[in-house]
Amino acid sequence: MASPCGDKSEYARLLLETDCLRDDLVRTIIDWLDLPLGSSGFDAGCGVGSNTLLLAEAVGRRGHVTGLDLADDLLRIAGERARQSGHEDRIDFKQGDINNPPFDPDTFDWVWSADCVGPGTGDPLAQVEALARLVRPGGSVSILAWSSQNLLPGYPMLEARLDATPAGIAPFKQNMKPEKHLFQASRWLARAGLQDITAKTFVGDIRAPLDEVRRNALGLLFDMRWGGAEGDADEQDWDLYRRLADPASPEFIGDRPGYYAFFTYTVFHGWRSAHAISDH
Ligand SMILES: C[S@@+](CC[C@H](N)C(=O)[O-])C[C@H]1O[C@@H](n2cnc3c(N)ncnc32)[C@H](O)[C@@H]1O
Repeated sequence: MASPCGDKSEYARLLLETDCLRDDLVRTIIDWLDLPLGSSGFDAGCGVGSNTLLLAEAVGRRGHVTGLDLADDLLRIAGERARQSGHEDRIDFKQGDINNPPFDPDTFDWVWSADCVGPGTGDPLAQVEALARLVRPGGSVSILAWSSQNLLPGYPMLEARLDATPAGIAPFKQNMKPEKHLFQASRWLARAGLQDITAKTFVGDIRAPLDEVRRNALGLLFDMRWGGAEGDADEQDWDLYRRLADPASPEFIGDRPGYYAFFTYTVFHGWRSAHAISDH
């Protein structure tokens, strides 16, 4: 199956070229999780394997990480990156659906899922229950996702109006039950039988001056966040937004001296009881 998110090469490019803005943040989250050296983990909805590679580094030479994604085209890129990283022997990629993951219960020490679990990809509670079943007693589940941003300093009203469009609140939709919103993830983890649930938010900073790679990545982040808002934003807002957000524009906001922006990822984390019986 090809990428569920539109043009496959375009989507792969988006993931690959924005890594430079996200990698430090993802490393910080991985450090916070303190994954045991030598453990075996699962990256659910791994895309082009960006997080999978960092997770494999974190668990060391005796550890192992399995990445799963719906999209073959992204998995091919992920596999090639694993070969180039030299960690190929302790990373596997598999095609499959997180709604029905193709693994036995109690297979992994931990599960990680970034920007995948949620109402855009199925029923989040059922997904978390399916992921929790894969974790051995004493293991953990981490669900994380982009949770906010402040990318247009000096234009708070424009940014608020873009955020209020359907593209701005995606994958949540206006008519969805509140229970499906990402910020209910602690409840999904609890309903899946996990314990000691915590939630924590991490910040990714973006500061001028931006080199060419980060400049281009910032343009892609804008596109990812609000690119779909064209039909819903008013014409004047859209015109201003394009002038500020297009790296080809002479008014590109990332070129302003002192440009500072941030985005956040929120992690929801829970433990499977060390005494759980395997068919919880
Ligand atoms: C926004 S990307 C995030 C990729 C990766 N986790 C990262 O942070 O770089 C979401 C990924 O979830 C995958 N995906 C969406 N629905 C899925 C499903 N039901 N099962 C498995 N993967 C899915 C998409 O193909 C895509 O690669």
